[in-house]
This record gives sequence, C-alpha cells and structure tokens, in this order.
Amino acid sequence: SKRVAVLTSGGDAPGMNACIRAIVIACETKGYTLIGYLHGYNGLLNQEYETLSLNATHNLIQQGGTILHSARCEAFKSHQGAKDAAKNLQALGIDTLIVIGGDGSFKGAQHLSTCWDGQILGIPGTIDNDVAGCDATVGYYTAIDTAVSSIDKVRDTADAFERIFLVEVMGRHAGFLALNAALASAADYVIVPERFDNEQQELERIINQIEARRKLKGPVSFIVVVAENVWPGGLNTLAERLSSHMQSEVRPVTLGHVQRGGSPVSQDRLLATKLGTYAVGLVGTEKTLIMIGEVDHHPVEVPLKETWAYTKPLDECSVETMLATMNQRY
Ligand code: F6P
Repeated sequence: SKRVAVLTSGGDAPGMNACIRAIVIACETKGYTLIGYLHGYNGLLNQEYETLSLNATHNLIQQGGTILHSARCEAFKSHQGAKDAAKNLQALGIDTLIVIGGDGSFKGAQHLSTCWDGQILGIPGTIDNDVAGCDATVGYYTAIDTAVSSIDKVRDTADAFERIFLVEVMGRHAGFLALNAALASAADYVIVPERFDNEQQELERIINQIEARRKLKGPVSFIVVVAENVWPGGLNTLAERLSSHMQSEVRPVTLGHVQRGGSPVSQDRLLATKLGTYAVGLVGTEKTLIMIGEVDHHPVEVPLKETWAYTKPLDECSVETMLATMNQRY
C-alpha cells in the first residue's frame, strides 16, 4: 500500500484545510497511509510530521489557516536542503508528496526532485491567484470576499465624510485580488501592476475622475483600490501626493493579513475538495512534477515548471468590466 505525505507551504490560504481533509478521506478510502509534514518544508528538514487519519477531519472543511502550519523555508533552497529532505522522505518510505502552495512552493518541489525520485504533486493554494495554468487558486475567492466586505465598510465612513480613501489589497505582484475586489465593491478606481503605466498618469486620471464627480455632484466619497507593491514609495506616498493635489484629506487603509484568514467560502471549499481528491487519484501513476488545477471547471494537469514560466494574465472580462464601470482605461 502507498505512503503519501502532504504539506502546506508559503502564504496560508483559506481552503487549505478543506484540501487536507479531502486528501485524508481519499487516502483512507484507498487504504493509503497519510502523513502531514508540519511547517512547510521545515517539516521535511526536521522530520516533523504527524499521521493523519479520519479523526483529523472533523469540522475541518470550514476552518481557515492550515492545521499543518506553514512557512517559507530558506534552508530548503540549498542543495543540502533538498538532500536532507530526500533522506527523510526515504526514511519514512514515502511514495508521493503532495504540496499545497503557490509558485514558491512549487519551485521548492521541483528543487526536491533533483535529489528525490518519488512522485510529486502540487495543488495551487494562495490568495494571490498568481499561479499560471489554472483559473483560480484555493483561497483566492475567500480573499476577494474578505476584501470586498472590508471595502464596503470603508465606503460607509467614506460616504459619511465625503472623503477620499486608498485601500491597499494584497496580491504580491499580481492584481487579481485588487481588480476583482474593486469590481465587486464598486470601487471608483483601481491600480494594478499589470496596468500600471507611471505615477503621473495614474494620479492625473484619479484627479480628473474626482473633479468630474465633484462638478456633477458636489462633495463625494472616492475609493481607490491599490494593489500592494505597485505604488513606488507605498500607500502613504500616494495619499500625500493626492491629498496635496486635491486639497482634501486622503485616508490610506491597508487591509493586510486579515485577507489571509477566515472560513473559506464555498467556491474555495469545492475547489480544494475536488483538487485534493483528484490528486490522490493520481498516486501510484507515472505522473509526477505536475500541478492539479481547474480550467473551465475541469481538472487539468500542468507541469510544475509551467506554473511559473509566464505571468498569468488578468481575466480580460473583469478588466473590461472595471473599465466600463469606472469609465476609465483599465
Ligand atoms: O502570497 C500571499 C501573501 O499574503 C501576499 O499577498 C503577500 O504579499 C505576502 O503573502 C505576505 O507575506 P508575509 O505573510 O510573509 O508577510
């Protein structure tokens, strides 16, 4: 019978637990032994693990975070790191390793394969959705919802004071979360790395929009959603520049790590459950170093290397709709 291991690595995402649950259940059904490595790749290096059985799955599907804990592991990136991990996997007689994480975690898995010839499967889990080859990553939909409900709240106070707000949304170097949170919260403007020309142009567009709105309506609230890492100097720099141009207060709000937490929405639970189950179905086959994802609601198998080979483009339909609704060039 097969021996399977699973770990969660990199930024945790809501739905990782739902995925672990699916993997436990599928392994139990097939009669496979399943162990969970703790703290991402650190668990592989330090032989920190626990055996996972059905009793780990009670009330798990709705829990945010990851019961296996997560980490970004520098030591693992060296050749020695991969060698040590391989030795530990061999010692436990592991046949298949399933890695739930983003592109950094998949690069780690590829690196491990230079020293270990067991089967390696990846499942995309990150709030950023910046993994090529799949429509959505586990955690992304929940993070949109969290950002949207926060922006709704900011809107209440922005309206009350007729103030300008800048809301920074996570996403690392990708604009998926910012764009779709902006669209779903009817934000007035969005700045994303994929469409960022230069500071002056963005600033002018924002100012023109606010002025046009004021001409029409008098004092108005105005919410700009800003993807993290896009504005040179950060959110405060943009707030100061905008405030001095508009001669009015501009309040910056950074949503931060709240976007990583919370109970997963059903889309993430479903995606996580399907991908986890599908991955266990591949255990023992020749298939290795692939990510299991979903495209158009169908499972796809993508070589890990392709998941970071190119920058996943924003969904054009969201871009066009945002453009149309905010009457801008996005
Ligand atoms: O990849 C998920 C993510 O939350 C990004 O959106 C963000 O840039 C980064 O992780 C933050 O990392 P950390 O939790 O290490 O501060």
